[in-house]
Amino acid sequence: MEEIRSRQPRGLVLSGGPSSIYTDDAPRPDGNLFSLNIPILGICYGMQLTAFFLGGTVHRADRREYGHARFHVTDRGDLFRDLPDSFNVWMSHGDHITAMPEGFVSLGHTANAPVASMARRDRRIFSVQFHPEVVHTEHGAAILKNFLYHICGCKGEWTPEYFVTGMTRKISEQVGNGKVVCGLSGGVDSAVTATLIYRAIGDRLIPVFVDNGFLRLNEAEKVRESFAFMNLHFVDASEQFLNDLKDVTDPEEKRKRIGHRFIRVFEAEALKIGKIDFLAQGTLYPDVIESVSTWGPSATIKSHHNVGGLPEKMNLKLVEPLRELFKDEVRNVGRVLELPDMIIGRHPFPGPGLAVRVLGDVTHDRLDLLRMADAIFIEELNSADLYHSVWQAFAVLLPVQSVGVMGDERTYENVVALRAVTSVDGMTADWAKLPAEFLARVSSRIINEVTGVNRVVYDISSKPPSTIEWE
Ligand code: XMP
Repeated sequence: MEEIRSRQPRGLVLSGGPSSIYTDDAPRPDGNLFSLNIPILGICYGMQLTAFFLGGTVHRADRREYGHARFHVTDRGDLFRDLPDSFNVWMSHGDHITAMPEGFVSLGHTANAPVASMARRDRRIFSVQFHPEVVHTEHGAAILKNFLYHICGCKGEWTPEYFVTGMTRKISEQVGNGKVVCGLSGGVDSAVTATLIYRAIGDRLIPVFVDNGFLRLNEAEKVRESFAFMNLHFVDASEQFLNDLKDVTDPEEKRKRIGHRFIRVFEAEALKIGKIDFLAQGTLYPDVIESVSTWGPSATIKSHHNVGGLPEKMNLKLVEPLRELFKDEVRNVGRVLELPDMIIGRHPFPGPGLAVRVLGDVTHDRLDLLRMADAIFIEELNSADLYHSVWQAFAVLLPVQSVGVMGDERTYENVVALRAVTSVDGMTADWAKLPAEFLARVSSRIINEVTGVNRVVYDISSKPPSTIEWE
């Protein structure tokens, strides 16, 4: 409480989460939070917390309501200012409010939630049962803006140009005359991190790119070209990585081994460079949130991404210029830094790469086969102008074979699954409704052009309960 007060926030958001307030390990803030006289927006679980602390009734549900719902505004006020009378929202909750705390009024409802939003205006406490922060909620960003501008009195003054100028100065101050090593992955986060630091300290930045052999078709070469203007250290460790995965089929074991190998390779390279003072990382705000989260698989999912253990071992200090940014902000910063579109608009790609998309045994041949299928999918998405309409799209090589017929012959070959999702931050995702004719074209090209594939399937699962990756 003291810390919150000392930071003098303009407003507080109590975010959603998977808990029920009735479980023992549910995260519960200090109830005095509601008496700080700071505007509060409770989202989903945050709404239930509000009701719980202020004397409302929260009905304990046996099952979760998950998916789209139509929200009807009954009391517009500032929160729903300039919005239509009803719009589609995204729900993901178990418990719901049956009686509001004293002094609260309902602002709207859905078919399943009689109180889907409520407020106590004199104390500037607002809440919504749905998730305004996900892309599936129409006008979600407008609701958050309304809260910030009209209820908290904030102004939107942040610009990527302003960030670049300020951050370049901060990096120079932090690093002084020191040297910084930075792992490049080919993704937007590490590219923006390295470019910002390069702007600040020039060749005292040493970017290291480790080719683990699990990259997409021609990717290593593209990264090499894009960063040729820096003094890039390129390490081809693909054979070592592949050897480590011999006979390993368990996804977490794959991740563990890849993570360990990455540290060893990176460390060896860093030793060659000589004295280094700092390690730069493309940590984003969602990673910061996840690393303080007390449960959920996310903490382990990303763990290998950080060059674990290295900072302590080599006595390195961290430079993390993107720590307070979300992905879309990083992309905007990348545009200001004039990074190529190919890097800025690129879909996220997991650190373990194709090793977790070749399900089961990872071999040279299976990686090559997947690379071909994946390249066709991505090429077709680009030609149909659909690449940027999805958050991520990729092919997965399944560890099963299926029967087919080609010409007069029976075949017994591999199955490739195509996965494409829409999402805002990768935490939740919906399967992308790509046009049937488009999928037909991709399927027929893969089966005709990639030897060893006789069947293509399309994944129609959302996250949760599925994940984006298959492993
Ligand atoms: P899931 O599969 O958990 O993925 O829905 C969420 C997002 O994280 C990416 N992902 C990873 N990224 N190392 C990474 O750097 C990993 O081990 C890893 N596993 C999943 C995934 O591609 C998606 O963007």
